[in-house]
Amino acid sequence: MGQRIISEDIVAFLQELLPQRPSLFAEIEKECEQDYIPLIEPEIGQLLQVFLGIKQAKRVLEIGTGIGYSTLWLALAPNKERHHVTTLEINNERYERACYYFEKAGVSSVITPLLGDAHEIIPQLKGTFDFVFMDAAKGQYPGLFHKIYPLLEPGGVLVIDNILLNGWVIDMYWPERRKKTMVCRVRELLEILKTHPGLLTSILPLGDGVSVSIRKREGGQFSLDKE
Ligand SMILES: C[S@@+](CC[C@H](N)C(=O)[O-])C[C@H]1O[C@@H](n2cnc3c(N)ncnc32)[C@H](O)[C@@H]1O
Repeated sequence: MGQRIISEDIVAFLQELLPQRPSLFAEIEKECEQDYIPLIEPEIGQLLQVFLGIKQAKRVLEIGTGIGYSTLWLALAPNKERHHVTTLEINNERYERACYYFEKAGVSSVITPLLGDAHEIIPQLKGTFDFVFMDAAKGQYPGLFHKIYPLLEPGGVLVIDNILLNGWVIDMYWPERRKKTMVCRVRELLEILKTHPGLLTSILPLGDGVSVSIRKREGGQFSLDKE
């Protein structure tokens, strides 16, 4: 997308420290590179698996399937009990390619891919989710956040990718006019995450920046502020 928020040599070193990935992952990485399809960095995939393993999530929602790379990281996360991943993609061709990879990986039974606009699909989803990963159009982040939040159960985890957006959000810089909305909306989302009374958030400068939030449970909290 642009420059990295951490230096190339640190990224390369972090990626060297990852265990070897299944060959199917390398195949999808190559296809995405050839066809200019955006995808998460493998270190973000690994981070998602660690979070899922800690949370022992059962119902996972992903916004922005792409061709299924991040969905496979989510679906293949080691859990005591099998979890289910619902993933949303607006682009028909990417959706088809993702379904092909889910079959090829043998994990179709644990993934529900849905084709359409997340803004329309999310309000129709049944039940709540204990893990949500958002990696869709960055200019839509605040709007999508407000739709996702009611579906995140207390104690649930919300992870959002590209939250530092090449560092552009820091000084509100956009390299070209058409990126202005995207930068403003991601910055808006960062402010929402910072002040939201229902969430506890940490921002990690890994990949293009990832936020990880937990939806607070009722009670069980101490406050040092006097009423
Ligand atoms: C960065 S790519 C996702 C990459 C994927 N998470 C991965 O790492 O393999 C973002 C995807 O979100 C999809 N998208 C954007 N806006 C969307 C919306 N409103 N509803 C559903 N999908 C959307 C795009 O078509 C695109 O494929």
